[in-house]
Amino acid sequence: MSGSQLHDSIAIAITGASGAIYATRTLAALLERGVHVELIVSEYGRRLLRDELGESAAVDRLVPYLQEKYGDDVRNGSMTLHSNRDLGATIASGSHGCSGMAIVPCSMKTLAAVAHGLSRNLVERAADVMLKERRRLVIVPRETPMSLMQLRNMVVCAEAGAILLPAMPAFYQQPKTLDDLADFIAGKVLSALGFEHALYPAWTGSVSS
Ligand SMILES: Cc1cc2nc3c(=O)[nH]c(=O)nc-3n(C[C@H](O)[C@H](O)[C@H](O)COP(=O)(O)O)c2cc1C
Repeated sequence: MSGSQLHDSIAIAITGASGAIYATRTLAALLERGVHVELIVSEYGRRLLRDELGESAAVDRLVPYLQEKYGDDVRNGSMTLHSNRDLGATIASGSHGCSGMAIVPCSMKTLAAVAHGLSRNLVERAADVMLKERRRLVIVPRETPMSLMQLRNMVVCAEAGAILLPAMPAFYQQPKTLDDLADFIAGKVLSALGFEHALYPAWTGSVSS
């Protein structure tokens, strides 16, 4: 399935949980497939990009960063960067043809807000729209250990139709690098959004050496 045939656009939200590399790999994989990405980055998401990946991954330099790291194919797609304060943005409305959204990584704060339908900023509102329109919402929470409230918030989101995809890379695919781990989570996100990919080898029934 090629991305742009079934999907008008996909929203990606980056919030302030550790794991910025999961976000950049997911973004690059979608762009490589020619997808139009509606990007929202929370204030702490912006900080995470710089703290974990360096100044060259700052939001205003993200496309050149992705091109440098993942290759020229990221230019196959396109991206609109939305302000997290803009509750009048296209993706704040169910009438916009955004077919799915991933919050990657998702902080416990944003998880709580989605679970309770707060819609205080564009990340929260766009997620709320996905749930009310019965579209795909993929939440990639990262925290450990987790409190009872955090666990309950995940259950509430799952009950409302979201796919909870914790940032838990597997090791059976024999990862050698951090990028291998990021490929695994990004691949899971793409699968959950309905895209085919080859970001990690399919399980064959035994661990390959
Ligand atoms: C370096 C750093 C790492 C953080 N890692 C996490 C994390 O893994 N999970 C989490 O829930 N919050 C984490 N936080 C805290 C969130 O960033 C904080 O709760 C923030 O208010 C989340 O806001 P946002 O969801 O709007 O991005 C981290 C903060 C910093 C500065």
